[in-house]
Amino acid sequence: MSKKRVFSGIQPTGQIHLGNYLGAVKNWVDSQDVYENIFCVVNSHAITTPQDPKELREKTFELAGMLLACGIDVGKSSLFVQSEIDAHPSLAWILDCNIAMGEMNRMTQFKDKSLKNPKNVNVGLFNYPALMAADILLYQADGVPVGEDQKQHLELARNVAIKFNRDFGTCFKIPEPMIPEVGARVMGLDDPQSKMSKSHKGANHAIFLLDSPDVILKKFKKATTDSLDTIVFDTERKGLYNLLGIYEVLTQKSRESIEAEFVGKGYGALKLAVAEVVIETLRPIREEYMRLSAQKGYIAQILKESADKVRPIAQATYQRAKELVGLI
Ligand code: TYM
Repeated sequence: MSKKRVFSGIQPTGQIHLGNYLGAVKNWVDSQDVYENIFCVVNSHAITTPQDPKELREKTFELAGMLLACGIDVGKSSLFVQSEIDAHPSLAWILDCNIAMGEMNRMTQFKDKSLKNPKNVNVGLFNYPALMAADILLYQADGVPVGEDQKQHLELARNVAIKFNRDFGTCFKIPEPMIPEVGARVMGLDDPQSKMSKSHKGANHAIFLLDSPDVILKKFKKATTDSLDTIVFDTERKGLYNLLGIYEVLTQKSRESIEAEFVGKGYGALKLAVAEVVIETLRPIREEYMRLSAQKGYIAQILKESADKVRPIAQATYQRAKELVGLI
């Protein structure tokens, strides 16, 4: 039986953090043997917010290197850069013409991003979910492993695929969201009410995958908690719940055994334990990244080979969509 295909993407903006890793990348790596995998550095999405061109080019390569360092194995997975395959924006246009304004207007990420940065409300930012739908639908993906914040975008991708298939004839597979039970929404360490994000300014907000052990320890020590003294999984105690969630996903221990481990202990002990497991998880990734980052030619070659491998899949889908709508 042939393997199910997964597709997912990540933007080369800011620095990749623990939320990206636990919500998405770790799951991509862990299930590489189970699926046929296509992963993408979505640089065209990145230009929906202002980018320095030179920096964007560098960050695209750096992120590809980070994904390889995290364990993406090109023997099992394809890893390419979005702008190298023209069918993405081309299909996005066809999808744009089949998405109602009302549906696009409901996207909460567009609202959040435009409120946070009112000077940068451009049409690309508004259309972002159509390009994301094109990414997924081009490859006839069965599943899309992402963090919880992408749920609404995936719903839109499914809706437009269903509508298109109904109106014009079968063209797209309807993709299923694959959102992990734990780690799907890692919160900021300084502010556990808000999602850990690349753009947040706080110095202790996010753990970056390239942070040194000292920095990681310092950030966890300063993590916001509360004034209660039991260590239990309680969704109302957001700071504590976030720390426990990180510990749970990285140690693979059960909630009961974690609670038992910390009976009679305080936040100091928990923060130290979480910091240690994060440090040990990230250590080999950081080391491998340092080794790989000296090999730009190798990374460029991998990206090219992957793009060449998956381009025919994208082209075939785009060609069919074109024919179905009468663009010949
Ligand atoms: P991006 O680059 O913001 O994030 C990459 C992945 O990391 C997940 N993530 C998180 N998971 C848990 N906790 C967090 N605090 C956290 N922050 C981010 C995201 O859910 C995502 O899975 N729109 C996408 C990129 C994209 C894409 C696609 C994804 C473009 N086309 C097609 C899947 C399929 C984004 O901005 O991800």
